[in-house]
Amino acid sequence: MAPSDDPAARIGELRAALDHHARQYYELDEPEIPDAEWDRLYRELVELETANPSLVSADSITQRVGGSTSSAFAPVAHIVPMMSLHNAFDLDELRGWNERVVRRLEDQAVPKFAVELKFDGLAISLRYENGVLVQGATRGDGKIGEDVTHNVRTVADIPQRLVGDYPPILEIRGEIYMRLSAFDRLNQRQRDEAAATGKEPKLYVNPRNTAAGSLRQIDASVTADRELSFFCYQLGLVEGGPELGSHTETLAWLASLGLPVNEHTKPFGSIEEVEHRVAEFHAMRHDLDYEFDGVVVKVDDLRLQAELGADAKAPRWAIAYKLPPEERTTTLLDIEVSIGPSGRATPFAVLEPVFVGGVTVGTATLHNEDQVATKDVRPGDTVIVRRAGDVIPEVLGPVLADRDPRSKPWKFPKDCPVCGEALVRDDTAAATHCVNFRCPRQVRGRIEHFAGRAAMDIEFLGEKSVDLFVSLGLLDDVADLYTLDFERILALEGFKQKSVDNLRGAIEGSKARPLGNLLFGLRIPEIGQVNGQTLAGAFGSMSAIQRATVEEIAAVDGFGQVIAEAVHAWFATDNAKDLISRLSAAGLTMEAAQVDRSKEQTLEGHAVVVSGTLEHFTRDGAKEAILERGGKSPGSVSKKTLALVVGADPGASKVSKAEESGVPIIDEAGFVQLLETGELPG
Ligand code: IVH
Repeated sequence: MAPSDDPAARIGELRAALDHHARQYYELDEPEIPDAEWDRLYRELVELETANPSLVSADSITQRVGGSTSSAFAPVAHIVPMMSLHNAFDLDELRGWNERVVRRLEDQAVPKFAVELKFDGLAISLRYENGVLVQGATRGDGKIGEDVTHNVRTVADIPQRLVGDYPPILEIRGEIYMRLSAFDRLNQRQRDEAAATGKEPKLYVNPRNTAAGSLRQIDASVTADRELSFFCYQLGLVEGGPELGSHTETLAWLASLGLPVNEHTKPFGSIEEVEHRVAEFHAMRHDLDYEFDGVVVKVDDLRLQAELGADAKAPRWAIAYKLPPEERTTTLLDIEVSIGPSGRATPFAVLEPVFVGGVTVGTATLHNEDQVATKDVRPGDTVIVRRAGDVIPEVLGPVLADRDPRSKPWKFPKDCPVCGEALVRDDTAAATHCVNFRCPRQVRGRIEHFAGRAAMDIEFLGEKSVDLFVSLGLLDDVADLYTLDFERILALEGFKQKSVDNLRGAIEGSKARPLGNLLFGLRIPEIGQVNGQTLAGAFGSMSAIQRATVEEIAAVDGFGQVIAEAVHAWFATDNAKDLISRLSAAGLTMEAAQVDRSKEQTLEGHAVVVSGTLEHFTRDGAKEAILERGGKSPGSVSKKTLALVVGADPGASKVSKAEESGVPIIDEAGFVQLLETGELPG
């Protein structure tokens, strides 16, 4: 239905929608729309009410705090109301709030601000009497909440008893939330349990809803099982206690009583410094083990807070700066299947483009058939899309309230969309493949892989050329590269003598690539870069590998039975035999270069990874130097790596993996020393 043009009617629509979604969010813990959609509707209502003050009524959601309460829990009256916060969605709105604060305070002191995270959880009020926890209550409508004491007692972060100099009555407010690690553990358990019973796992969508749902359980043992956490950020009713001058002082006092206070809250002297801190928080959005959806800025001085007071809904002395949304809803136009270079069939969502997490998202992977079934997303559904940081966009699930009742679960196609052959499902890996060796997508994939830098390093053979040559029938497999009809290519649109010469030269040059790289380039199952080198070194020639038995291959360092069987089976196929004989006839290197073992074996058995450009070694030269000293040079860092050598522009993922795994990172001089002595630079 199209939104009404008449302000009064539109206000009615917005209030009804917001009331509905508030109930879904606060009472049922089953939000149907992401927070950003809520904010959008809410802002539209605020704008309409501001433009039409006569239409504002006390029952509008803009005039009251969030949810109401459920009869499952006893009501608790909040003597000091639990208020909400007004939002700022950009820096201009933050500055506007600052100007209003300064104006209201007139000639009084320029305020300082406490800047803290806006935790994405559930507000809670805790009451301590003589240092003992006696009650925990949800916010409810701000005046009356629900008694969830039995559940609050199971939250490990919440002390049952205070320590230090506590007053006779102390109510504190804070946020119950779920750490990302706890959320991941919970979902892993769901997966394990489902796997044990052969059912589809019921996965939790996000930590906030899970935390809220967990706290409002009748059975406290369910809550206890969910590993909830807590930060406190505000006082409620206090009787007795010290004279406190500021919010930051209050937090320090609460911490001294044994209550968990977030370490990132700090005071700042000006709005410019606040803006800088907001940017810092934004940058660390994905660095913490819990989610936050904004930054709360509070006037630090409690006397000034009292001066500023509150309106019906929220204090004037605080504002929540909302970070850009990472979840939005959009329409799932279709689910399609793409075929990867190894034949893997991956379903993906075709979306009505939506701006989320700083980019416009039009497609998102759905990983495999089981994921589509678990999420039960269907073409035509409104779906929630999430893009957090650099992580690839994800479809979280459907908005069931918007679903067309006639829609049916999506079915994985039976045939490959590229070649039309039947797809085959591999249940152990929850994967589906096109197993047609001649499927054009796989032919292209194999050739692209063969030409890649880590394999045969054929420059000037880009994806577009491969596509074109395959579609024209010039290339069927990698051996065809060595009998390419360059005259025909020269006649193709977009190809000039120079580009054809370059391509011919690069293909010619690839014939000299070492046997290990060729083995890697052939996409033999289980043969990555390292295994390719090892296989070449262990047997010395392609023909020796072809003759080797499963047992002989299994005996190679790091191989074993499973890999040996896969490798042996590949070499036994007619396809492989034909390919190798044609490559050999074309003059490719079929013998392993003799590794010079005269050098001292300083790196015997150790793995050293090289990343970035070194000054005195080429990429292959550095590898060779490592091999000559008895070492290995895999393409990725693991806990077992002895050192990561970095040159100019190293790969960020290798560096961060090394940092995470405690692998020493050394420069070129350190590398030379390591080669010579086997010792890491001190
Ligand atoms: S102070 C009177 N500080 O945000 C001020 N609230 O949108 C009361 N929240 O209901 C709130 N982090 O659930 C405050 N550092 C923080 C917060 C925070 C998260 C939540 C809280 C509140 C909601 C308002």
